[in-house]
Amino acid sequence: MHLTREDEKTYDGELGWAYQTSMRILVKLGEIFGATRLIPIESAHASGVSYKTIGDAPIDFLEALVQAGAKAKVASTVNPGGFDYENIEAMAVTREIREKQDKIIELYRKMGVNPVLTCTPYYIEAPKRGAHLAWAESSAVVYANSVLGAWTNREGGPSALAAALIGKTPNYGVHQPENRRPSIHVKVETVPENEAEFGALGIYLGKVLGDKVPVLEGLPRAEETHLKQLGAAMATSGMASIFYPCGSCPRRTEGLETLTVDRGTAKGAFEGLSTTSEEPDMVFLGCPHCSFNEVKRIAEIIRGRKVKPDVRFWVCTSRYVREKAEADVKTIVAAGGRVVSDTCAVVTWVKELGVETLMTNSAKTAYYAPTMNKVKARFAPLNQCINTACR
Ligand code: F3S
Repeated sequence: MHLTREDEKTYDGELGWAYQTSMRILVKLGEIFGATRLIPIESAHASGVSYKTIGDAPIDFLEALVQAGAKAKVASTVNPGGFDYENIEAMAVTREIREKQDKIIELYRKMGVNPVLTCTPYYIEAPKRGAHLAWAESSAVVYANSVLGAWTNREGGPSALAAALIGKTPNYGVHQPENRRPSIHVKVETVPENEAEFGALGIYLGKVLGDKVPVLEGLPRAEETHLKQLGAAMATSGMASIFYPCGSCPRRTEGLETLTVDRGTAKGAFEGLSTTSEEPDMVFLGCPHCSFNEVKRIAEIIRGRKVKPDVRFWVCTSRYVREKAEADVKTIVAAGGRVVSDTCAVVTWVKELGVETLMTNSAKTAYYAPTMNKVKARFAPLNQCINTACR
């Protein structure tokens, strides 16, 4: 890899251990994937924040970076943690968990990383079109590339943090125009009608597409929420980092391999995301974290209704959106729900709350819940989730 004189100094340790280690992570990654240079990035977004998912192992590493004087060189943010302080009474959090989670967040903060604790940092500040990023949250990566027109590979937690500290990332993958070109034409025969159907389609496509870049035909009128669910699901079951949605796709698809998704396949993918039809003891909306408009929509549907006393109704969003959506938050709380920030049902301890069956409109959550949370999953669109949660 070609390194600038400055990069070389960093690589050789002249700027200290923290930057040397970060540079070595990036160079090694670049060598593995055939990058010839590092390129500047506009922002970084690190994952690996919830104490539930990372445990103790990375804390020493983060602490060593802080002690060695590590500071982020570009705007940097982090994924959700293990709980929400404002709803702490509703979380299965011991004192030890609190202390560990506090420590992790504090270490990121000391490195100049903004602890936004959300998987939708683009609602706080959207990256510029064409900007190179180093983001680690896979749902955010697909959204950034496919909807916002930014350029980012799917980073791991350590490589995103290393990129934050160096301000650069290796130039490979979807940072290169040739790797962003469509390589398969997917014809969706039955137009998905809601966010859950988009998510189920995404789970199916993630499994069958490998690292191909699809043009998706047959998705007219797809809303931002639909594309968010589609991309998050594709990245959950597969390698996706970018897709191109279109209603009818003329020139771009010429000469490409074709895949047709028929009604039966889409239905099978949807049904496969439920492992039970039992009544849920938790209904969880907001994976990925809700936008302002999604919180508003949930408030409109639930206004004047009451959540069943034996059901936990969680709407997850960023602290930023929760503050902006104050009136809608009040409506949801008045109905007996909670608007939870800084975490989500997947990266907090829901089983420990006594939850056995979790209902959601998120294909990503339905896919992960049985393994990561050891709960049964019931998958349905938003309206149905709210109707089931309420009396
Ligand atoms: Fe976000 Fe949690 Fe889903 S981090 S993408 S809400 S699993």
